[in-house]
Formats: sequence, C-alpha cells, structure tokens
Amino acid sequence: MQTVFAPNLLAGKVALVTGGGSGIGAGIAKLFAEHGAKVSLVGRTVQKLESVAGEIAAAGGEAMVHAADVRDFALLDEAFAATVKRFGRLDLLVNSAAGNFLSPAANLSANGFRAVIDIDLCGTFNACRAAFPHLSKQGGSIVSITATQADVPTPLQVHAGAAKAGIAKLTRDLALEWGRVGIRVNAVAPGPIENTEGMSRLAPGTTADSLKKRVPLQRYGTIEEIAAAVLYLVSPAGAYVTGSTLLVDGGTSLIGAGPFLDMMGA
Ligand code: HXC
Ligand code: NAP
Repeated sequence: MQTVFAPNLLAGKVALVTGGGSGIGAGIAKLFAEHGAKVSLVGRTVQKLESVAGEIAAAGGEAMVHAADVRDFALLDEAFAATVKRFGRLDLLVNSAAGNFLSPAANLSANGFRAVIDIDLCGTFNACRAAFPHLSKQGGSIVSITATQADVPTPLQVHAGAAKAGIAKLTRDLALEWGRVGIRVNAVAPGPIENTEGMSRLAPGTTADSLKKRVPLQRYGTIEEIAAAVLYLVSPAGAYVTGSTLLVDGGTSLIGAGPFLDMMGA
C-alpha cells in the first residue's frame, strides 16, 4: 500500500492482534509491523499465524504467535503473558477474531446464535479484560473490528448483528471506565472488504456484483484501507479519540440491507 502516514508511527510499541492469522487482522498486523510495532498474533490455527509471522519477518518486522481460542479466558490470559514476557510490554490490542455465516433466524439453533456471540462479543471482552493489567501500566489503545450490521437491521445476520452491536456498546463503556488510566477504546466498522473470508461467506457468487453496484463508492473496500483506519486510531493522530466507532464502509450503511434482502428473495 502506498502509505499516507509518516514512517515508524508505532516504533517501540507492542501490539496483540486476535484473528491475526488471516484477512483484516493479518492486514492490520502487517501494517503495524511496517510501522515499527512488535506484533503478537493470536488465533486458533497455528499454521495461519506462522504464515503471517513469516511474512512480517521477511519484511524486516518482528512477530510472535500464540494459539488461543478467544472464548477461553485462561488461554487468552496466557497469550498476553507470553507476549509481555517476550516483548516486555503491551501497548495495543486489536480484536479482529470473529465467526459468521448466513442463516435465517428461524433456522438458527440456540447453539449457533451462542457460538457467534461467544466468539465476537465474549471474545472481545475476554481480550480487553486480559489486556487491562498490561495496558494500564503505561496507557494504550484498543480497537475492535465491528460491522455495519451492528446498526443496520439485516436479515440472515441476527447472530452477528447482535454480537457486533454488543461490541459497539462495550467500546463506549470501556472507554468511559478506562480513559482515566490512559486506555483509549475505539472500534472500526468495515463495509464489504474484498478478498476476505467474511465476504466469501456473506456475498457469494453473483450477489457480489449487485452489492458493488449499490455501494455509494461503487466498489468493495480493501484490507489495507481498514488497516489504515486502525493505524490512525492507535497513532498520535487519534490521541483524543475514544469511545467511537469509525465507519469505513464506502457509504454502505447509508443504503440499508438491500443486498441481503435480495439474497432472501424479498
Ligand atoms: C447455521 C451454523 C452454520 C451455518 C455453524 N452453525 N455453521 N448454523 N448455518 N452455516 C451452527 C452449528 O450447527 C452449531 O450449532 C453452532 O453453529 C456451532 O457450530 P460449530 O461448528 O461447532 O462452531 P465452532 O467450531 O465454534 O465454529 C464457529 C463458526 C465457524 C462461527 C460456526 O464458522 C468459524 O469458526 N468461523 C471462523 C471464521 C469466520 O467465520 N470468518 C468470517 C468472519 S467475517 P448446533 O445447534 O448444530 O450445535 C464476519 C463478516 C462480517 O464476521 C460481519 C458482519 C456482522
Ligand atoms: P477471517 O479471515 O475469517 O478472520 C477472522 C479470524 O478470526 C480468523 O483468522 C480466525 O482464525 C480467527 N478466529 C475465529 N474464531 C476464533 C476464535 N474462537 N478464537 C480465536 N480466533 C478466532 O475474516 P475477515 O473477513 O478478515 O474478518 C475479520 C474481522 O472483520 C471480523 O471481526 C469481521 O467480523 C470483521 N468484518 C469483516 C468484513 C468483511 O467484509 N470481511 C466486514 C465487516 C466486518 P482461526 O479460525 O484459525 O481461529
């Protein structure tokens, strides 16, 4: 990506990225490393994490990996402890781990609903909570990746929309409680992002073309555009921003849930 930022904005900083083994989380980790941060990648599949860590190392950065399911607080706690042991401190947390699929609410099992709430909402709380003792030592910054479905009523997405709406509220409440110890807490809500697992699950096949035509900016966003928004929030340029959700969606939230209604044949 042609950077629009000054170089080395995160020199000396240490970041932990959940969901850092693929997609948007991997893109954020790579941009952070490019800006001088040491990065700890957390997810369930160690091979994916190692592949991203390898890319970071090949580009001259420093990364470690730690396998953990964000639903398991004890494992996450260990991931943070291992990160601080290796890199000496923690300054930044990015919550990008999530699970999603399309399902009509009437067909969704209680366990299916709970699985997504557990990963997205409880997993985000778990990571924030496990990060707190480390971040509060010198102050820091948290950014959670949410989604426009948090606000836009969307069919087939009752589980993910509820989870992401919970993250938006969590973001505001934690910003209120933790501002006084120097921790800023924000979120980024991407619109449809090209070449991601999320879009291959949510807009397979021809639906992608119909969605692109409806986005006010007439295209999907890129992983790099989401990473740049996160970098802004954690950088000195975002120093007075807390409790906010930054929409990075090409205007998609302005058009409502039309493409999803198409999928339902409504
Ligand atoms: C209906 C489904 C389902 C589907 C799973 N379930 N897939 N129900 N339609 N397609 C149900 C299962 O039947 C089960 O309920 C329950 O969910 C848990 O399923 P498991 O497979 O046991 O869960 P788990 O192994 O924990 O996997 C979680 C997962 C999985 C979310 C289901 O897909 C996953 O791990 N995804 C991670 C990667 C991912 O989704 N990336 C995209 C993020 S993108 P029963 O009742 O049968 O026991 C994203 C995009 C944008 O979030 C955001 C919009 C808000
Ligand atoms: P992705 O590549 O599937 O990223 C999700 C990551 O989370 C994966 O690396 C996955 O790795 C990890 N993960 C899933 N469940 C986990 C768990 N229980 N514990 C730990 N890690 C777990 O999908 P993406 O499309 O890049 O999405 C990234 C984020 O952006 C998500 O929060 C998503 O909701 C959000 N978002 C995406 C879009 C989009 O257009 N793609 C739009 C709006 C919002 P493992 O399976 O190996 O654990």
